[in-house]
Amino acid sequence: MVLLRKKIGVVVTGGIAAYKATELVRQLVKAGAIVRVIMTKSASEFITPLTLQVLSRHEVLIDTFSENDTEHVQHIEFADWCDLVVVAPATANIIGKLSNGIADEIASTTLLAVACPCLLCPAMNTNMYQHPATQRNLKRLKKDGYYLLEPDTGFLAEGYEGKGRLPVITQIVEKLESIAAKHFYPQLLENKKVIVTAGGTRERIDPVRYISNDSSGKMGYAMAKIASFLGAEVSFISTKDHFPMMDNMDLILVESALQMQKEINERYAQTDYVIMAAAVSDFRMMDQAEHKIKKKDQENEKILWELIENPDILAELGQNKKQQVLVGFAAETQNLIEYAQRKLKSKRIDWIIANDVSQKDIGFNSKNNQVTLLNEKGQVVNLPKMEKIDLARKVWEIILNDPIIKD
Ligand code: C5P
Repeated sequence: MVLLRKKIGVVVTGGIAAYKATELVRQLVKAGAIVRVIMTKSASEFITPLTLQVLSRHEVLIDTFSENDTEHVQHIEFADWCDLVVVAPATANIIGKLSNGIADEIASTTLLAVACPCLLCPAMNTNMYQHPATQRNLKRLKKDGYYLLEPDTGFLAEGYEGKGRLPVITQIVEKLESIAAKHFYPQLLENKKVIVTAGGTRERIDPVRYISNDSSGKMGYAMAKIASFLGAEVSFISTKDHFPMMDNMDLILVESALQMQKEINERYAQTDYVIMAAAVSDFRMMDQAEHKIKKKDQENEKILWELIENPDILAELGQNKKQQVLVGFAAETQNLIEYAQRKLKSKRIDWIIANDVSQKDIGFNSKNNQVTLLNEKGQVVNLPKMEKIDLARKVWEIILNDPIIKD
């Protein structure tokens, strides 16, 4: 979404990870970006320019002196055209040249002319990466304003473990998204602290069993991601830990409603927005068993467990509200708007986002969602069905009463 119609220059230099540039170009095109590629001569030994030309749907630049266009100087035109540049993989050689201002072939010459944000993704042998010269160069490039994505540790082409692998492509794309957001989205939440809760809480029955629900945490994560794109400092208090964290996003992993409540309360006084997207379990066990509860081997025998009601976290936040804007979710299977309106009042919150979880293609666990927003002033906004990440952007636009981006 952030990369839609963004002009991205992909610079591929000559390491074994060059073959992964195909996937990077493919994912960027899929995200709606317009992609042009530059390759060094050694990169073209690992992968053919034709592959990247087909995937990017643009001619690939490989040689500084093949100037077919008499009206433009190719590498300058390329550098001026870009909104964003990514060098992946970035070899020790290009890192060394760039940090010293050397421009002696197409990639280094173009990079020196680039004035837009540029992400470097170093990938090389671990000893080359750890070498003081490489580290010195990277430090200097960071100071010069380049964005860096650290390589992963893992099995290297040389046959041993080490730090130097190109991170997975989705991670590179995510990093580019957050860089693009920082530069192209208005930073409406700059210096603001936002808490977003996500996922269904787990209330332990015994060490191996729990009461929970189908909430995947996806809607909460989308809300947190957009908040981070808008410059907020985000505390993501979640029962799920598989979501990639953005630069200004902290994951606080919790299990139960009581743990979630404790983490929120610790931060609440300094917080500006609380988005309660978590599906907090309404009940927990009165007594949690210390050991696994044994079955009695008597079929159809009634088993009684005592449950106790969990605190209503959001309602308590509503009671203690000062500067905070509170946003709740109302997942219902019937009388959606009526219940949502009731919750808005009883919990003393600013916004409620109501969604019908009885429909299989939206809500819990789905990629899509369809919601109605209601606020305490009586405003009602119906939004059509869309992907959760797009919906999160719309929701933030409505809450902040400001269109984030005109597209
Ligand atoms: O009352 P109900 O559970 O339907 O309200 C849903 C909203 O309240 C959600 O935003 C949810 O995160 C929050 N909630 C809470 N504490 C609970 C139950 C729900 O904060 N115990």
